[in-house]
Amino acid sequence: MPLQLGVCDYPEQVSAEEWNVFPQQMREMGLSYVRLGEFAWSTLEPEPGKFDFTWLDNAITALQAQKLQVVLCTPTATPPAWLVEAHPEILPVDIHGNTRVFGSRRHYDFSSDVYWQESARIIEILAKRYGQHPAVVGWQTDNEYGCHDTTRSYSLAAKTKFQAWLEQKYQRIEMLNTAWGNTFWSQTYTHWQRIGLPNQTVTEANPSHLLDFYRFSSDQVVAYDKMQCEILRQHSPNRFVTHNFMLFFADFDLYKASAHLDFVSWDNYPTGMLELSGAFEQTKIDFARTGHPDYVSFNHDLFRGLKNKPFWVMEQQCGHVNWSPYNPLPAPGAVRLWTLQAMSHGANVVTYFRWQAARAAQENYHSGLLRHNGRFDRGAYEVMRLSPHLKKLSDALEAKKVCLLHDYESMWAYDMQKHHKNTSYWAQMLMYYSSLRQMGVDVDIVHPMSDLTGYQLIIAPALMIASDELADHLEHYAQQGATIVFGTRTGFRTPSGAVPAQGAPGAISRLVGITIKNFDSMRPGLNSRIEAFDQSFQTHTWNESLELLVNGVRSLGMYHDDPLYSEIAISYRAINDGGAMYIGVWGDAIIRRCLEYALFRAGLTYEELEPGLRLTRRGGLVYAQNWTRGGISLPLPPETQFVYGDSLIEPFGVAVYKDKP
Ligand code: GAL
Repeated sequence: MPLQLGVCDYPEQVSAEEWNVFPQQMREMGLSYVRLGEFAWSTLEPEPGKFDFTWLDNAITALQAQKLQVVLCTPTATPPAWLVEAHPEILPVDIHGNTRVFGSRRHYDFSSDVYWQESARIIEILAKRYGQHPAVVGWQTDNEYGCHDTTRSYSLAAKTKFQAWLEQKYQRIEMLNTAWGNTFWSQTYTHWQRIGLPNQTVTEANPSHLLDFYRFSSDQVVAYDKMQCEILRQHSPNRFVTHNFMLFFADFDLYKASAHLDFVSWDNYPTGMLELSGAFEQTKIDFARTGHPDYVSFNHDLFRGLKNKPFWVMEQQCGHVNWSPYNPLPAPGAVRLWTLQAMSHGANVVTYFRWQAARAAQENYHSGLLRHNGRFDRGAYEVMRLSPHLKKLSDALEAKKVCLLHDYESMWAYDMQKHHKNTSYWAQMLMYYSSLRQMGVDVDIVHPMSDLTGYQLIIAPALMIASDELADHLEHYAQQGATIVFGTRTGFRTPSGAVPAQGAPGAISRLVGITIKNFDSMRPGLNSRIEAFDQSFQTHTWNESLELLVNGVRSLGMYHDDPLYSEIAISYRAINDGGAMYIGVWGDAIIRRCLEYALFRAGLTYEELEPGLRLTRRGGLVYAQNWTRGGISLPLPPETQFVYGDSLIEPFGVAVYKDKP
C-alpha cells in the first residue's frame, strides 16, 4: 500500500458555495483521505429526532467525484444543547465536585447510561445511512477521548459504578481493606456503598484508592469505545474503525483502548507539545519552530507499539496551533519534516488538521492548509511539493532489536506520588529514549507483558509496578540471552499500590540480584557525583543506593560524595548470554554511558550523530532528518542511492536513501 495523505475538513462550517471548490483542490494537492463529522451532531440532528443529512450527503458525493476517500466520525464528543437540557445528568463532574457545563466539547460522563443510549442511537443512524457508501472507507470513533481532563468524572453515576467495579474485583470487602492498607488513617470499610471517589479529600487520597479509581475510569472509556465499534461493525462491514488518541496522554490504558480497533491513530502537534512539556527554556527556544524530534518520535513509536503495526496520524499540525502558551509559526520545511518523520516511524497515512482555518468560534487563531480567506497557506505548498514523492517510499516495517517497556499503571503509580516536584514518568522514559535516538538506535515501545522475542536489548526505564508474573516473563527473556536494563523506582510498588514486603525492586529483585537501600530526592542544584566506567559523572534529581544480593552481580558505579558515599549506584548481572542491569541514578551523560555498555553487551552497534540529526529506518530506507537551523552533510559513500534529497540536507530538510544491506 502506498503511503498517503489526507485532511480533516468541516463542510458544515462554511457555505456550500465556498466549500464546493475544495474537493478538487484537495485532489490536486495529492490528498487521498478526508475526515468529516466529529463535531457535527447538532448540525445533523438540530432537534431530537429531526435530521438534516443534506450537507453531508452532498459533501461525500463531491469528494467521491474527486476520488477522495472519506473517514467518517461518530459525533459523540459534542452532545447537542437539547440533549444536555433534557438530560443534565450526562454532564461530567470535575475533581472539585463542580458539574462541567455545555458550551465547548467533551461535556459527557462515561458512566452515564443515558449518554450511552443516546450515543448508540446516533451512531446506529449514521452507520446505517453511510456505512456501506462506497466513498466511506472507515470510521473514527468520537474525538480524542480524555481531552480536557475528561476521562475521570466524579459524579454520582461514576461513584455507584466504581463501587460495583470494586465489589466485582475484590469480592470480599476485607480483601479491599487489606489491598489498600486501610488500617492506615482509619480508612477501613465494612460496606461497598461507603466507598467514595478519591476527590475532595482533606489531604491526599490513598494511592491504592486512586490507582483503582484510575483503572475503573480507564475501563469505562474502553467499554464505551467498544460499544461504538460494535455498532459500526454491525452496520458498516469491511470498513476500518480507529480512534485519534492524544500525544503524551495517559489517563486511560491505551493498550486496552486500542485492542479492539483495526489500527491506531494519533494527533501530532509538535510545537504545542514542546511548549507544554517540562523541557528547559533553551530547548523550547531551539526547537520552537519544529518541536523536539524525540518528543515527536517517542509518540510515533509508542502508538505503533500499541498494536505493533502501522498507524495513522489523524491530525497533523500544518501551521501554527492555538492552544499552547506561545504559538510560533513552524519553520519553513517543518510540515514536510513532520510528515516524513511520521512515515519513517510507521505512519501509513498522515492527515492534516485542518483544511481551512476556522473563521468562527473557539479555534479561529488556529491555522489550516488554507488561510481564513481560502488562499493556500505555507504548509499547503510543502504538501503539494512532497505528495508526488511518496510513491517511492515503502510501507514495510522492519523488526527492531531494542525495545522500551511502557505501561500505564506504572505511570499512574509514579505520577500520583512523585516524591520530587520535577520528575515524572514521561521525563524518566524520555531520558532513556532520547539517548537512544541520539545514537541512531531505532526502538519499539511495547507493553512489558507483550511477546519480547527477538529483542536483544530490553529497557525498562520506569516500571514502577512489578508483579511476580512480570518478573517471570522478563526473566525468561534474560535466560534466552536478552540484556535487560532497569531504571530508578523499578518495582517500588506491587499491583495493589503498596511497597513490596522485601522493598524495591520487589519481584524484579531476583532477576537483577539487588535490593534498594536508600533513595534520595534532590532539589534542583543539589547534585552528586558517581565514579563509573573509569570516569566521573554528575547525577541529579534522584539517586538510589543498591545492595548486591547474589554472587555474580557486579557494581558498575559508586557514589563519590555524601550521603551515599561509596555505596553502589549501578549494577550488572550476567545471566547466560544475556544480563540484567540496574541504573539507580538520573543524569543524561551517565545514562547514555550505561546504554552504550548495554548495547555492547547485547551485541548491538550505535552511531555518533551530529546534534539535531536523526536517522530512522523503514522499508529498507533510511530517513535522515535535519532538525537544526544549519545544513548537515551526511558522510555517506558516493554510491549511496537517494530516493529523496541528497547528502547535503538543508535546514529542517530530509534525505531518504537506501539502507546498506
Ligand atoms: C486537537 C483536536 C482538534 C483541534 C486541534 C487543534 O486536539 O482533536 O479538534 O482542537 O486539537 O490543534
